[in-house]
Amino acid sequence: MIAAYGVSRTRDKKGVIIKQTTLPWVNCIHRNCGGGWKTMEILVLEIYMGKHYRIRKLTPKECHRLMGVKDEDFDKMKSAGISDSQLYKLAGNSIVVDVLEGIFRNMKFKENPLRVFEAFAGYGSQSMALRNIGIPHEVVGISEIDKYAIMAYNATYSKTENYGDIATIDWDTVPDFDFFTYSFPCTDISNAGAQAGFDEGSGTRSSLLWECRKAIAAKRPRYLLMENVKAITSKKFLPGLHRWMAFLSEQGYTNFVKVLNANDYGVPQNRERCFLVSFLGDAWYEFPEEIPLTVSLKDILEDSVAEKYYLDQTRVDNFIAGLSDEKREALERGE
Ligand SMILES: C[S@@+](CC[C@H](N)C(=O)[O-])C[C@H]1O[C@@H](n2cnc3c(N)ncnc32)[C@H](O)[C@@H]1O
Repeated sequence: MIAAYGVSRTRDKKGVIIKQTTLPWVNCIHRNCGGGWKTMEILVLEIYMGKHYRIRKLTPKECHRLMGVKDEDFDKMKSAGISDSQLYKLAGNSIVVDVLEGIFRNMKFKENPLRVFEAFAGYGSQSMALRNIGIPHEVVGISEIDKYAIMAYNATYSKTENYGDIATIDWDTVPDFDFFTYSFPCTDISNAGAQAGFDEGSGTRSSLLWECRKAIAAKRPRYLLMENVKAITSKKFLPGLHRWMAFLSEQGYTNFVKVLNANDYGVPQNRERCFLVSFLGDAWYEFPEEIPLTVSLKDILEDSVAEKYYLDQTRVDNFIAGLSDEKREALERGE
């Protein structure tokens, strides 16, 4: 193999490819948010010396590497019996661990151990980041309803109390905590979905954000971290984000918000996400500085990949035939 590229395809409603680009990194592995026909299909193009082109899907392990998940964590999730399709979904829903590590380093937590509650926990990218940068912490509880996310979480960490549906938690029964993380569902905000929004009382999945109010008012954790798709900062959704930030300000929090791209934090994935960091009382916070990307897509690929991940060769040949000579030569040079 002399080069590897992310191939993103956009399809129309009938599944016909309307746009296809090759990139030296993966253009957001997200498959599931909002689902439906707009979801990008991500493939890797391999080029062999003998001008043998093949295209394949990223494997679940590669997707998790692109999310900053260590192989040993991924292996634990896989050995819990979670299927490939669920592993893809979990990765697509999560937060790039490297980005979280940068954010958490700059939060300068003073507590030892830091008591954490992970709402919308997924497989616990938040805990992974705290562990990786050596912050002594104890997860007092999580809130998660997805069977496979819970399996993945339990496979990765020692037994953690899951309080289930965020909407039904009696916060008096939950131990106190210092840090509340809430990367609430992006389904109704993401460009890949119908964008029904996250207004309070709207009944959308993204409106679960407002359920976090009870946790924050009851426990008044010192630190908060929200994460969602970049579209939450769009003209359509910014007023809602401002309403949420106004609630936090009323509760005495100081807020810092920024869109960060995983590509700027050492990961070859173009994934822009909005992060809102809040501190109880007066505070100053700086988001982590960007670092140059030294890793390419090639570096995260597995050495040997099962045949089932490869695309039918006729489709590959059609794709290659559709490239200009100039483009094909550039690919062969590994550019
Ligand atoms: C954007 S993902 C967050 C992923 C997580 N940050 C991670 O590290 O993998 C949103 C999560 O919220 C969960 N969720 C959806 N509805 C929920 C509810 N009512 N209560 C608790 N969790 C819920 C979903 O199952 C999903 O795992």
